[in-house]
Amino acid sequence: MDGNGRWAEARGLPRAAGHRAGVDALRRVVDACPEFGIEHLTVYSFSTENWARPTAEINALFDLLRLFVNRDLRRLHEAGVRIRILGSRTGLSDDILELIDKSTTLTAQNNRFHLNIAFNYGGRTELVTAFQALARRVEAGELSADEIDETTISQAIWSAGTPDPDLIIRTSGEFRLSNFLLWSSAYSELVFPDAWWPDFDRDHLAAALASYQARTRRFGGLQK
Ligand code: FPP
Repeated sequence: MDGNGRWAEARGLPRAAGHRAGVDALRRVVDACPEFGIEHLTVYSFSTENWARPTAEINALFDLLRLFVNRDLRRLHEAGVRIRILGSRTGLSDDILELIDKSTTLTAQNNRFHLNIAFNYGGRTELVTAFQALARRVEAGELSADEIDETTISQAIWSAGTPDPDLIIRTSGEFRLSNFLLWSSAYSELVFPDAWWPDFDRDHLAAALASYQARTRRFGGLQK
């Protein structure tokens, strides 16, 4: 969800206003997904690298998670949305951890739509954490080194249980993954719309999906 800061600066607003508008865009996109048959959505809302930002901006992003959970959790739960927050718990305050646990537990049985919020997330940290967990199981004699394969790694990462993304959309015209879903993006299709995230709407989503549909996915094989 890139471009919140530039959206705000272009309007002479503080960056936090861009992030607030970003939450509105997130609501719009979540609401539009069922129309297109999308069942899983993972959004990148705070990266492990975002700790390098000024404290005031970090606090604004944490406040938005609080606001989002407090305002939207009940409505999303009633709509059958399962919420998972993917990321490290290290460095997060107790009240944020409680909100994460509350959203996850309340919606755990829902299956109409899966919303994953990558928060305090980094793809490399996700892999390090998974490999450490697997190494501990090897040390404990529960697993042999040879049993570590793509399936065991997929089951050990934070996004375990979520299908690999078919499509990754990065807004604001930057052509990078920036440490997002490094393991599961192996064969994802990528689109990079020019729009800043707060302007992203149903029509941008439709255009990204049309671009996706026009592609041939070979997964390393030959075209059928
Ligand atoms: C990137 O824009 C965006 C982020 C770092 C945060 C995205 C967060 C939200 C949309 C709101 C949070 C939502 C929840 C549910 C917690 P940028 O700040 O890097 O923009 P810039 O590249 O234009 O400066």
